[in-house]
Amino acid sequence: MRVLVVGNGMYVRGQGQDDFGTVLPALIEYQYKNNKLLRADVVGTNSKSSFSAKQKFNVMKKLSSSNLRISFFPNKNQNETYLKLINKNKYDCAIVSVPDHLHFKVSKKLLEKAIPTLIVKPFTTSVKDGLELINLAKSKKIYGAVEFHKRFDKQNILLKNHFEEGKIGNLLYSNTEYSQRKSIPITSFRKWSNKTNIFQYLGVHYVDLMRFITKATPTRVLATGQKKFLISRKINTFDSIQVMIEWRKKGSSFMQYISSNWIDPDNSSAMSEQRINFIGTKGRLEANQKDRGLIFFSDEEKIKSINPDFSMIFKGEDRASWRGYGIQSINTFLSDVEKLKNKETSLSNLRKKRPTYEEALFSTAVVEAVNSSLKEGSKWKLVQFK
Ligand SMILES: NC(=O)c1ccc[n+]([C@@H]2O[C@H](COP(=O)([O-])OP(=O)(O)OC[C@H]3O[C@@H](n4cnc5c(N)ncnc54)[C@H](O)[C@@H]3O)[C@@H](O)[C@H]2O)c1
Repeated sequence: MRVLVVGNGMYVRGQGQDDFGTVLPALIEYQYKNNKLLRADVVGTNSKSSFSAKQKFNVMKKLSSSNLRISFFPNKNQNETYLKLINKNKYDCAIVSVPDHLHFKVSKKLLEKAIPTLIVKPFTTSVKDGLELINLAKSKKIYGAVEFHKRFDKQNILLKNHFEEGKIGNLLYSNTEYSQRKSIPITSFRKWSNKTNIFQYLGVHYVDLMRFITKATPTRVLATGQKKFLISRKINTFDSIQVMIEWRKKGSSFMQYISSNWIDPDNSSAMSEQRINFIGTKGRLEANQKDRGLIFFSDEEKIKSINPDFSMIFKGEDRASWRGYGIQSINTFLSDVEKLKNKETSLSNLRKKRPTYEEALFSTAVVEAVNSSLKEGSKWKLVQFK
């Protein structure tokens, strides 16, 4: 199998020394478990980040005794190297991990070449673009999915099981708080934080999760937002956004409330604060998705809440390996692509259970309605699918 990864930033190879990201670790684990991933090409936009990604991969390779072969591009500063690669080489699939506003443009080029493509969230920022990608994938008869890894989190699978088994009764409402440190928009995503917003970049995860758990349809939204801190740092985007979403299923409705921000103090004990609850007519579910029971602090290091469930390195007796719902999400895509090739599954089968482009359109439609509510003084907006 030959895989193309477009983007070589934080999600692909991590930030700092001890963080290895999610995409490269997932490729290493897929190769280790299946011994089938023959080759990967990772493409960014400049020689400096290609070099850093390669250095990071060499550390991972050594730690995990991996025999994965990866080439890093470009070796000069150039935005469109991925186009040269897809014109020259034949890829079995691709993973797109570029800034939110570029997902559509980059993925379209890959789909035009009939490459099955996994896009990191958000799918696209408009329904129009989402529909174009859906139709393109359909016309080429290829598989497309969105990397909504929360669908693979053990906590969320249990939430789904409780919901489906009727243990909470009729769902009335659900609250989510999801936020990140202010260094994310100020430093990590400085180049593109003003081109997205905290709901479409982060809050969108919990919209997809609600769809995954309940299979309901979002009908209308109302959004409010505040611009106080980031604007003072000359970044014109909301500090925080609060959203009310009405969902409907079989004539019954429930509400979802999502509060998101990316101006949490950098002294926060984790990159993300995240929790969700479900309140039903006969039961209540509470999931603390930040504090998973593992905390570290020392004379040298400030307090850290560790999430061992997402994309964590475990230095075992034989080798270091990465495990977690992030790894599982990417490896499920790779394995699905392989199964499709071997005719062990079908597109219609995957459509029933995976975060396909069609499934991801639900969250994109909510993102578009939220953006329009924010623009129009927090009016209620219908969620529209065309
Ligand atoms: N960081 C996370 O934990 C995380 C988690 C899930 C999803 N995501 C999503 O992944 C995407 C990337 O996030 P990130 O954290 O890696 O951001 P980042 O800013 O660290 O990296 C973005 C990368 O995109 C590359 N890029 C931009 N234009 C390109 C082009 N034309 N060709 C090739 N590469 C190009 C840049 O070179 C850079 O390597 C975003 O959509 C984000 O929402 C991030």
